[in-house]
Parts: sequence; C-alpha cells; structure tokens
Amino acid sequence: MIKLNEKFLERYLDKSLFDKKLNIALENLEKLLSHKGEGSEMTDWLNYDNYLHDDLLNNIQISARRLINISDYIVSIGIGGSYLGIKALLEPFPGNKKIIFAGNNLSSIYLEQIIEKLEGKDFSIIVISKSGTTTEPSLVFRILLQKLIKKYGEDSIKNRVVLITDKEKGALQRIKQKYQCDHFIIPDAIGGRFSIFTPVGLYPFAAAGHDIKKIAKVVKDSLKSYSIKSKENPALRYATIRNILYYTGKYHIETLISYEEQLRYLLEWWKQLFGESEGKNKKGLFPASAIFTTDLHSIGQYLQEGPRNFFETIIDFEKEPFSQKIPFFDDDFDGFNVCTEMDINSVKKIALKATALAHYDGDCPIVFLNLENLDIYSICELLVFFFYSCAISGYMLEINPFNQPGVELYKKNMLALLGKEKDINKRKELENKISQFF
Ligand code: PA5
Repeated sequence: MIKLNEKFLERYLDKSLFDKKLNIALENLEKLLSHKGEGSEMTDWLNYDNYLHDDLLNNIQISARRLINISDYIVSIGIGGSYLGIKALLEPFPGNKKIIFAGNNLSSIYLEQIIEKLEGKDFSIIVISKSGTTTEPSLVFRILLQKLIKKYGEDSIKNRVVLITDKEKGALQRIKQKYQCDHFIIPDAIGGRFSIFTPVGLYPFAAAGHDIKKIAKVVKDSLKSYSIKSKENPALRYATIRNILYYTGKYHIETLISYEEQLRYLLEWWKQLFGESEGKNKKGLFPASAIFTTDLHSIGQYLQEGPRNFFETIIDFEKEPFSQKIPFFDDDFDGFNVCTEMDINSVKKIALKATALAHYDGDCPIVFLNLENLDIYSICELLVFFFYSCAISGYMLEINPFNQPGVELYKKNMLALLGKEKDINKRKELENKISQFF
C-alpha cells in the first residue's frame, strides 16, 4: 500500500476541516463504487476484474510472442490514453527493447528518425485507437503501413499488423475485416486515460516481454486495496488534500515530482489523467510536473521564491533496483571524496530531503507518496491509486471526471479543416475565423 507522508502539510491543513472533507471523500467513494456519480457509464475500469481473465491474457501473450519472433522493432501507434500509459511503464522498464512509439505527434523529424531506425530491420505495427479516427495515429499508420507493404507485400498485413480498437466502430474495422489481422477490443465503458490495463497497455507490455498475468494480479489487488471505505485509504486522503488546498483559493497548481528521469512519462500520464478529468467548468488544479534534481537547475529558483500558488506532490521509493558506488580518487580533485562511502541513491535521498526542507521553508506545501519498490508492479499499483484519487477528487470538485468535451473540440475543428467532415459550411466558417489570425 502506498504511504502518504503528510507531515509537511500540518501547518496548512486544519484538522477538523480535513476530517470533514474526508467524510465527503468517503461519500464520493461510495457514489463511485455504486456507479451513482456523474459519468458512471465510463467507470468500467472499476470492473477490471471482469476483463482481466486468462482467456484474454493468453490470447494477448500468444499474439505478442508471434510478433516478437518476427520483429526487431514493434511500432506502437497511438496518442493520449492510447500512448501515455504504455510509455510511462516501458520507459523505465523497456523489457526486450523492441517497442518504439509513433503516432503521438505530427513531427516530421520524429517520424523520419523512426523510419531510419526501421531501415533494414524487421518490424511490425500495433495500432491503438479506440475511435480509430484520431488524426495523428491514423496518418502515421498510413505512412508506416505503406512502408510495411513495400517491404513485405500486402499479404504481410495479416501477420505484421495488430489492431487494438473498439468492438465495432471506427475506421480500423475495414483493415480488420479485409486482412483478418489479430485484434483486441478496448471496452466501450473505459475512457482513454483509464484504459492502460485493457489490451491498450497489456499488448505492448506483453510485446516488451513483461509478465502480464502478474500485472493483472497487481491491478486486481490494488483495485480492492484502494476501494476500502476507510479514512486511512491513501487515495481518499490524497484527494482530500488536493481539494482542501485548491479551495483555499491560493493554490492553482499541483507539481508532481519524481527523482527518476525514467519516470518522466509517468508524470505525463498523470497530467493527462488529472488534466482531462478535472479541468472543467473553469475549475481544477493545473497539473504540472518536474524531474528533480534535473529541473532544480532550471526552475529551482522559481519554485523556491516565485509566487506561492502551487504545492508539491513527490513520488519516492524505499528500495532502488540498482546502485552505483561513488569512487575514491587519491587527489580528491573535486572534493567529493566525502561521498565515497555512499552510492548514487543515498546522495539522491539527501538531495530529496535537502530540497523538501528548503521548499517547505520557502512556504510550499508538500505531500510525499511513498512506495516500497521501484519496479513495474509498484508503478501499476500507483496508477490504480491515481485512478481512485482522481475520480474522488473530480467528484469533490463537482464535475464529471470521466468525459473530455474540450479534447473533442480541437479534434472536430481539425477534421473539419482537413475536409474530413461532411459539413462544408463548418469548414468555411473556421477558415474565415483563421484568416483573421494567420
Ligand atoms: O483520453 C482520451 O480520450 C484521449 O486522450 C484519447 O485517449 C486520445 O485522443 C486517443 O484517442 P483514440 O484512442 O480514440 O485514438
């Protein structure tokens, strides 16, 4: 279970208010679990138990093993909820290092580098898109599919393309029917940012060589742990802390911090989860992130002495998977022989404590999320912890945490401008508006 260190919050949180708000958090947990809250039609992630059965996991493993055997690289195409969670877990734990990501942007430099990487190598493609109509992955899929056909012929699509999409909707159905490639379903009632433990993430994890049965077990266990109706439930406490700080009117930003460079995309995933869930009706904390100590050398000054409108949430691990000793040099050329009894992790811990103290002295509220191990299973547990805290936090904010009308608007504008929508007047209207600015 994740442990919260709330000691740095004591001077910011009134005990009786905290207790009162914890009761509200409990009521909202009840509402979530009984599917009575707003957006409950999109809360089937609570029922991951029903999806994570052996038949599905075995089929994914069989298909992924086949792909591993015929590929030097497996390109995972997707964006947003069909990308960030996979990247969040495979960046620190890349497994067999076969997965590369595409379709998550419209950068030609990025794409060219992938195309170069695939040159002379065997590759296959996983397309992940619930709607099957998102512009970025669709266009990148076209480009890479053409390369695949050129290299291996059209017949290869059946073996080298895997589709992860809706049961029946979306453009990928045509490819599915025409080529009969392996395909897996993204359940209707699980939104993009909650979908990491559907085939969206499970397939790439299996393709990277990870044990998805063990991951599934951790997810099921964590779903139980963080649904406990108790004021000690850390997911409820974290949601409550966020809510109290937000409603002081002083804190508009939450900065999620990790001391692990390889967790950069975990922070990005968290930003999507909280940003898309809470940023509605002109409400919500702005989800920012930082990697320490790296970013202390860029935004450290601002964090220490800039406006006091943010608080820090710091992810910390008790045990590290690796250790590098600091070597001794006779001439002690830089004066760091004082560290030679330590390894890089113990220096990192000192940096963490020193920074927390300085920021606290600079009047910044801090909450620590303490995990025992830095491994793929702990991170899966952390994601489930965030699912719950985000849902509760959204309900405490009195918004629907499970839709994303704002994301849809940009997509609609873009499709209309590309000429993909039938409504020609909409395109003209947008072009007129745009001509005032560009
Ligand atoms: O959370 C969301 O719904 C979005 O971020 C989507 O995940 C993202 O736009 C990708 O959508 P799709 O999987 O339909 O291509």
